[in-house]
Amino acid sequence: MIFLNYETAEKEINEIINKSDEILEDIVKYLYENFDNYSWVGIYIVREKNLFLGPWIGPNATEHTKIGIGDGICGSAAETGKTEIIADVKEDSRYLSCFINTKSEIVVPIKVRGKVIAEIDIDSDILNAFSQKDKLFLEKVADMLSKHI
Ligand code: SME
Repeated sequence: MIFLNYETAEKEINEIINKSDEILEDIVKYLYENFDNYSWVGIYIVREKNLFLGPWIGPNATEHTKIGIGDGICGSAAETGKTEIIADVKEDSRYLSCFINTKSEIVVPIKVRGKVIAEIDIDSDILNAFSQKDKLFLEKVADMLSKHI
């Protein structure tokens, strides 16, 4: 099932954030389980000049557990503070490959007072899987999470 009701998802995510003791783990799990297009979901945390992989869920572990700010899609989003949507990862020379099946990717910065402190990274096995609706939805999720990192 593809979860198309973003409003319901927002409400449920808000409830998880209010109740959970392991917010990041639970939100990663929620996104992975409720959106079929989301094949791998992880959160990277910014520490000095690098991103470090925090909670993640997916069929495989990534070797990219530490990414320099400015490197790859994740590092670019951390540098600019802007969401990156890559419709076809093969077409983007910045892309750092993690999984053989990945076809598209979205990276959404989590910011506090304009400063990137973490980001949501989602890979999809489907080409062009991420719409403007996913972008707006995940930016709201990022905003909700920004108070809890
Ligand atoms: N593809 C990312 C690296 C992280 S993996 O997708 C989990 C990038 O280009 O930065």
